[in-house]
Amino acid sequence: METTIAVIGVKENPECIEAKLSMAGEIIKRGGLVAFPTETVYGLGGDALNPESSRKIYAAKGRPSDNPLIIHIANWEDLGRIVSEIPATATKLAEAFWPGPLTMIFKKSDLVPSQTTGGLDTVAVRMPSHPLANLFIKKAGGYVAAPSANLSGKPSPTLAKYVVQDMAGRIDMILDADGSSIGLESTIVDVTTEIPIILRPGYITQKMLSDVVGETEIDVTIYDSDSRQAPKAPGMKYRHYAPKGELVIVEGDPQNVVRYINEQCAMHEAAGTRTGVIGTKEQLAQYHGASSIKNAGSRDTPEAAAKQLYTFLREFDDEKIGYIYTESFADAITVPITRASSDTGIGQAIMNRLLKAAGHKVIYV
Ligand code: TXA
Ligand code: MG
Repeated sequence: METTIAVIGVKENPECIEAKLSMAGEIIKRGGLVAFPTETVYGLGGDALNPESSRKIYAAKGRPSDNPLIIHIANWEDLGRIVSEIPATATKLAEAFWPGPLTMIFKKSDLVPSQTTGGLDTVAVRMPSHPLANLFIKKAGGYVAAPSANLSGKPSPTLAKYVVQDMAGRIDMILDADGSSIGLESTIVDVTTEIPIILRPGYITQKMLSDVVGETEIDVTIYDSDSRQAPKAPGMKYRHYAPKGELVIVEGDPQNVVRYINEQCAMHEAAGTRTGVIGTKEQLAQYHGASSIKNAGSRDTPEAAAKQLYTFLREFDDEKIGYIYTESFADAITVPITRASSDTGIGQAIMNRLLKAAGHKVIYV
């Protein structure tokens, strides 16, 4: 299949943008697939109400079809057609966080094909804030089913070039626009229960949610890797975001972390295997000996690390890195909320993704 790559530059004039998005919308209406930018990660879109489109999405990604898709909408009024009930908590959360990086799980209406929800009687819905996503969804008829636009098992793409790498030849069109500003997938909250349950952590944290709706819970499988329960979000059971090299999280006193990582890198490099490091700005100058050292920004602004994490993992693959060591971001969870720009506690989402990518390999030093 030939994939049309439609570049949308930052200074592009509104008529050209309109024309490209109209073309993209038509493709979706005809049952085709289009990758599009959102503020979290790039999405791989198809018509959410067309079972054949959902089937194509699973095929293009190489994804198991029991893993349900998120339906992206552009207007609050459109929600009513695809869900059978709108709980009061959902209305409050939407007022606070939509459009934005929050996905909510509702009971589905009959309009939504079971192919889109992986056979579940619930449906995940998100209203993205990225202006191009919003316009594209409207042009596409209002209901765009979209997983992240990566091949199954690869890190979600936060830059268009990675969508091209994974999806060229597999889908009809790629909207090649700016990089995703958040860089991690949306927070998922189940609002079908009396107390909302977080199924996947993200930029919108438990504290932010609780400030709006009172008590919230977190699916036990997110923080307890030994839990024998199945995650409530089916997709969370897969080993995601895996780089080709072996990834290890190193946690402990900063000086011990630096010493351990430097020793490991020296050892592997001496044996002929390339090594990589993800470090924070505060410690970066102390790393030596690795083939590739990535700057995750300051510990005070974990948002910077979140934004770049998936790019780093993909770059390590390109650089043929065999062993990757990363500092832990666990303490970013407890960053005092008074600290400017860090009241998000996005450390929890970063650690959730890192632990999955590392297959839960953590060294305490
Ligand atoms: O930020 C995002 O959410 C991105 C952008 C493109 O919007 N999308 C995304 O989709 O991350 P995906 O398919 O990679 O992840 C969707 C997750 C999966 O873990 C899936 O199991 C879960 O949402 N999910 C979807 N529908 C669900 C449902 N009805 N109940 C529970 N979990 C659901
Ligand atoms: Mg994904």
